[in-house]
This record gives sequence, structure tokens and C-alpha cells, in this order.
Amino acid sequence: MEGTIMTPKDRLVVALDLPTGAEALAMADRVAPFAGMLKVGLELFCAEGPSFVQELQKRAPVFLDLKFHDIPTTARKALEAVLPLDPALVNIHAQGGPAMIEAASQAVRRHREQGGRTELLAVTVLTSLGREEWARLGHAGDPSEKALDLAELAEEHGCDGVVCSAWEARRIGEVCGAHFRRLCPGIRPKGSAAQDQARVMDPATAVKEGATWIVVGRPITGAPDPEKAAEAILRELEQA
Ligand code: C5P
Repeated sequence: MEGTIMTPKDRLVVALDLPTGAEALAMADRVAPFAGMLKVGLELFCAEGPSFVQELQKRAPVFLDLKFHDIPTTARKALEAVLPLDPALVNIHAQGGPAMIEAASQAVRRHREQGGRTELLAVTVLTSLGREEWARLGHAGDPSEKALDLAELAEEHGCDGVVCSAWEARRIGEVCGAHFRRLCPGIRPKGSAAQDQARVMDPATAVKEGATWIVVGRPITGAPDPEKAAEAILRELEQA
């Protein structure tokens, strides 16, 4: 992907946060023509398991968003259990620390040496965390500063990129390098509700600010016409 020009479709990752495989596959059939990747999160993976991911991969590449966060050995073994699916992206929490990140990147590196394509991202700070909750967790300062620190840590320990708020994407690119991927959830087309997301940005601004990929869930999957909502986002990205 590096060096290649990404189309608006390549940049759009649709989060299939739906309770059952049947609903998710029906939604995937509708939105796959507009999306470069489909995201399977904990809700769906816990309900449907690996065979569902294989089914989905017949429609589009999959980002397996399981956000592993455990002791290094457990995180590595969990990754080794899903890597045979060869998803386009997997992720861990950077807050698991250097040894966990290192163990995860070694697993992904080995997978690629054997011909796999999977890239590893690290979650910096959840985009649902606003300033108040951040302070309640005992952190001083701004979540963005922490996100930048964690991105540097992830880069030093072999991750291909991070999951971050679009508000941090530009700065992370400056510090970690343009090659370092930034996948940004918390995307809300202008005029749509933030719901439980705190640090939101609209699709075109997010890409201008350095998002490699934007993740959009409910504004598409909860829309009365998901195809129309997805297409409108692609049109918006074309103007970016
Ligand atoms: O529906 P919405 O567009 O808010 O969906 C965003 C998706 O991105 C959800 O699946 C959520 O789990 C995921 N995500 C996030 N913030 C992160 C990492 C992942 O919102 N930091």
C-alpha cells in the first residue's frame, strides 16, 4: 500500500457492529461495494467466531478489531490463534506495554514471513474517552498527549500503525513517519450524532488531517439507507 494512491473506497472501513452473523452478512452485502475493509469487533467475533470471518472475507478484506490486552504470552498466543485467518489488520492495546507490543509484533512478523498479509495496529486511547473520564482514570493532561506517547511506543516496538482519534493523526504522522498507519474511528459525517464517541471528526477533515483509514459504524449501519450513507461519505472523501 505504501507509495500507492489510496482511493476514497480504500480508506473507508465499515464497522459491522451487529449482534448476529446473519445481520452482519446482510449488511456486508450492502456496504462492501463502498468499503475497502469491513471491521469485525468483539461483539460479532464473540457471537460468531472464526468461520464467520472466513465468510466475510469472501466479500472484502477484514480488520479483526479484538484489541488484545493481556500479559505478553497470552496476547501473542491469542494473535497466533487468529492469524491463520490472515485478516488485513489486527490490533492490540498499546497500554499493554513494551513487552506485550513486542510479543505481538513478533507473531505478526512471523506470520508475514510465512506469506501472510496481516498488519498490526496498536490502540492508543479509546476515542470514547473524553477529558472528564480521562481525569477520572487518574491521568493528568490531555488524552492526545498520551496517544502520541503510545504511538511512539508502538512504532518503536514494531507495529505498523495505530488506532487513534483523527485529532491526533497529523501529529502522529509527523513524529512516527508518514509510513506509519493511522486508523481513525470516531468519525461522524457533518450533522450526525456523536453517540458515545467523544473526540469526533468528519470524514474529509479526518483524511486531510492524516487518517490512513477512517472507521465508520453506526452512521452507515444505522442509517435508513446504508448504501446511500456510505456513498455520501465516499463523495465527501473525493472532495478532500
Ligand atoms: O459506530 P461508530 O462509528 O462509533 O463505530 C466505531 C467503531 O470503532 C466501533 O466498532 C468501536 O469499537 C471502534 N473503535 C473506537 N475507538 C477506538 C477503537 C475502536 O470507536 N479507539
